[in-house]
Amino acid sequence: MTDPIVARTRDELTEALAQGENETAVVMTMGALHAGHRVLMRAAREQAGDDGTVIVTIFVNPLQFGPGEDFDRYPRAFDADLAACADEGVDVVFAPATEELYPYGEPLVRVDPGPLGTQLEGAVRPGHFAGVLTVVAKLLNLTVPHYALFGEKDYQQLTLIRRMVADLDLPYEILGVPTVREADGLALSSRNLYLSADERAAAPSLARALTAGADAAAGGPDAVLAAARAELTGVDVDYLELRGDDLATGPLSGPARLLVAARAGATRLIDNIAVDLP
Ligand code: PAF
Repeated sequence: MTDPIVARTRDELTEALAQGENETAVVMTMGALHAGHRVLMRAAREQAGDDGTVIVTIFVNPLQFGPGEDFDRYPRAFDADLAACADEGVDVVFAPATEELYPYGEPLVRVDPGPLGTQLEGAVRPGHFAGVLTVVAKLLNLTVPHYALFGEKDYQQLTLIRRMVADLDLPYEILGVPTVREADGLALSSRNLYLSADERAAAPSLARALTAGADAAAGGPDAVLAAARAELTGVDVDYLELRGDDLATGPLSGPARLLVAARAGATRLIDNIAVDLP
């Protein structure tokens, strides 16, 4: 096991990447790495190959947090994160300071996520997806990977990143990786650290609801939603929605996605599942 090269600046990143000529794959994170991130790193290694370069970016992006959100208390654990990256054979960790990534201050020009950016998560978190897409575009352009891998847990984020790359002709391949779950179904998330024991006990109801919904697919959209709703207990639901798998609304048949957001105490949890409608 060799330690990854840690690049804190653009110049250090360019120098670190200049050494490899083979395929590169990037996993973008905000740190507080967990088993779900490790699965992404392994998938990145599979894509890049043993001779390729796996890059992990660690940056808590202020642009995607609204006022009153958890930017200040978002878990930061750089030493443990670096150990996890070393363990997974990551080649380069890019961990810039805010001033390095946004040298001119808050960017005046941002990536507009379009109508989907104001729906679902975007309805509750105005500006969130413009912040996400802007930093993802910057990190893609700085790391110049062949592949960028994102978890399906943030399905709306993944969908918007795919659209950004398609709509703006960015020359990167975006790959989604299935959600990693605890034994009781709870989707892994850095924010699970915020949950009290009681909230943690209530949290798996989201995954139960999604599974119940997917299992009811043969009965059509209404049956899916009713089955899911019946399992959502002990949490405050923000939304439960069934959409096409590109998150478009409209008459639903074939591949669809059931998405849920709910609060356990003060912690907002999101999750989703594929649903195969008749
Ligand atoms: O999913 C995340 O952790 C973040 O939204 C991302 C993609 C790293 C951008 O800051």
